[in-house]
Amino acid sequence: MKALILSGGKGTRLRPITHTGAKQLVPVANKPILFYAIESVVKAGISEIGMVVGDTEAEIREAVGDGERWGAHITYIRQTAPLGLAHAVKESESFLAGHSFVMYLGDNLVRDGIEAFVKEFTERRPDAMILLAPVQAPERFGVAELQDGHVVRLVEKPAEPKSDLALVGVYLFTPKIFEAVRAIRPSARGELEITDAIQWLLDHDAKVEPHIVHGWWKDTGRLEDMLEANRIVLDGLEASNKGTITGSSQLIGKVVVETGAVVENSVVRGPAIIGRGARIVNSYVGPFTSIYHTVEIRNSEIEHSIVLEGSRILDVAGRIEDSLIGKDVVIRRRQTMPKALQFMLGDHSEVELT
Ligand code: TTP
Repeated sequence: MKALILSGGKGTRLRPITHTGAKQLVPVANKPILFYAIESVVKAGISEIGMVVGDTEAEIREAVGDGERWGAHITYIRQTAPLGLAHAVKESESFLAGHSFVMYLGDNLVRDGIEAFVKEFTERRPDAMILLAPVQAPERFGVAELQDGHVVRLVEKPAEPKSDLALVGVYLFTPKIFEAVRAIRPSARGELEITDAIQWLLDHDAKVEPHIVHGWWKDTGRLEDMLEANRIVLDGLEASNKGTITGSSQLIGKVVVETGAVVENSVVRGPAIIGRGARIVNSYVGPFTSIYHTVEIRNSEIEHSIVLEGSRILDVAGRIEDSLIGKDVVIRRRQTMPKALQFMLGDHSEVELT
């Protein structure tokens, strides 16, 4: 059994972050999302991993390497263009070479992992198995209709959903899927859709079985989902301190302070994580915040946010909330006149002012 982790794509919903970096490498509780996927796959006993990449190939190779650190072997597969999940499968055929495989979307998090899912697939040997989860608003998802425990139909974002079971970003396939991805045509948005490929299997008498997950899962493709994933993962951390806490500082609740971080005259209220070499001075870091490596926060307040490597937040008057701040960003209060707002923002940036 092999694995295919999808780490290409366009990432339009997470611009501008995805203009300059891979969304799969955004850290959730200071660990790139993609690492959670690799860990899940390895934990399910799979060590041969194909990593589908696009324009961000170099960055992903640099962060992930050859997989040795997880006891895995990673082969990079460059997708010619981000033309859909089924297109990624089609372009990975020579790597998968007749093996059954798990396909894992590199921006998804599944709390309870995929061990039970893989075990059920290897025992029952259907042609394909899909992971489903009950959701509150099925009309926003790909929805599966079941009959006698079998999948009979998949509908993308149905106006009147026939079930509340949404497709989670993990799938198990036998090589039969290659017939399907070759047969289907691009959808209205110009992509080869994996739902169409699975529907093709159903229409050709293949056995597609569901596996229902009850633990939480998250597709982190949008800012609010990324912040929610960060919230849930931070909540599961144990407090620890490898940094230096000085002056009148207080760490309250579940706070992780990584090596070389300094917290000076500041309050950090967990769950929160302060990354390697970060400096928090005269500031407040509130619940559900992940501060990544070498970030500096001075005379400012921040809560329910993710700040990436090397950014600096200095003397900001109001509290920053619900934000994803990229790498090496500077947000600071202007010290000289005139008292005006001044920006240099990349394409598709969003700023909300009070
Ligand atoms: P999506 O989040 O569905 O698509 P996207 O990355 O293009 O983002 P957006 O909709 O915001 O433009 O993709 C799910 C995962 O699959 C993600 O990790 C990217 C990856 N992917 C590929 O590797 N190749 C592709 O052709 C597509 C569409 C996605």
